[in-house]
Amino acid sequence: YPIIHLNTFGVGGVAQRYVRFDADTEIAGFLRDTPLGDCPYLILGGGSNLLFTGDYPGMLLHPAFKGVTVLGDDGYHVRIRAMAGETWDDLVAFSVENGWGGIENLSLIPGHVGASAVQNIGAYGVEVETVVEQVEAIALDGGETVHLTAGECGFGYRSSHFKSRWAGRFIVTAVVFRLRRTPRYVLDYPGVREGVERRGAVNLKTIRQTIISIRQAKLPDPAETGNAGSFFKNPVVDSGILQTLLNRYPDLPHYPQGEERFKLAAGWLIERCGWKGRHVGRAAVHDRQALVLVNRGGATGREILDLSETIAASVADHFGVRLEREVRVV
Ligand code: FAD
Ligand code: EPU
Repeated sequence: YPIIHLNTFGVGGVAQRYVRFDADTEIAGFLRDTPLGDCPYLILGGGSNLLFTGDYPGMLLHPAFKGVTVLGDDGYHVRIRAMAGETWDDLVAFSVENGWGGIENLSLIPGHVGASAVQNIGAYGVEVETVVEQVEAIALDGGETVHLTAGECGFGYRSSHFKSRWAGRFIVTAVVFRLRRTPRYVLDYPGVREGVERRGAVNLKTIRQTIISIRQAKLPDPAETGNAGSFFKNPVVDSGILQTLLNRYPDLPHYPQGEERFKLAAGWLIERCGWKGRHVGRAAVHDRQALVLVNRGGATGREILDLSETIAASVADHFGVRLEREVRVV
């Protein structure tokens, strides 16, 4: 089964098998008939955070079921349940239309609802964990359904237990979100307040429009240029390392991240190493956002991975900082 159209980098060879679930109820039966122990498998959402480096010698399991239901509304909060295959940004548009606050800053992030919880997606000062109430999943070894509270999911910066200690154990089938009838606007990320004020009024719609226009100005549209958003995470360092770096690079962007920890801007580090807009063969560094690697057309996953490794080595050489991938290499 060809992989190229199943990921936003537009790379990859063939998968041994592709299994699409059109209802969550199909999963238990599938697991009874197919012993997963014998075969590698990968759960696939929209493929917007994956880099395939060749053929996939196993099964791609794709939860494609959609749907959003309102579970309750107490006048303060609206609880909605979205199925894993729902397009993330359709859910954002739907909640903004209804005047429910909490995910407007996460407008235009590609991918599906299931992965939003796996990844703890974040942007412009908001992380999805702040509105997740519960994650529903099916255990792949046995088919048992579990309901996990947000506290049990181990959310962190672009991470959750689904990515780490439970990797491969659960298929997320639905996520329950708790949104606010009286929104609390988050406008502190550079450019957001200005953009919203330029639109005349502060509300969910103008925030969504602002976020969309900021993103469109610097991030490549995967429909036109293959990419997976930020290739690396922003590194978090302690205050000693930060101070040493600031002595040499006084303009180094840094953001406090809890006790004595600081987040650096990987895009800045990469740009300072001279990579912004450069290419090696058909793989390139985006010219408006150095943290995003792009497929210039016809690149292989290998070429993109090789470029990423050269960049990480260059950042380690210059700054002594190790970049960790956000994109999952398969
Ligand atoms: P996939 O790429 O298909 O999968 C990602 C991971 O989740 C894989 O490990 C997969 O096995 C696992 N997974 C997927 N679905 C399930 C499921 N139902 N159950 C269990 N595991 C599952 N991310 C941000 O956080 N913020 C951004 O601002 C942002 N901007 C982006 C901009 C662009 C242009 C692009 C291309 C990507 C961006 N991303 C961003 C990254 C990406 O959109 C998110 O990581 C998104 O959540 C991935 O969703 P997906 O459905 O495509 O997941
Ligand atoms: N910067 C540069 N050069 C660049 C890119 C960035 O100097 O080429 C500097 C900027 O000037 C700014 C800082 O780096 O001072 C931060 O840049 P930006 O606001 O573009 O955000 P980012 O840190 O590069 C992160 C997320 C994005 C998210 C944005 C907005 C990570 C790994 N990435 O990017 O998420 O959309 O903030 O919140 O945390 C993703 O995860 O795929 C993703 C796109």
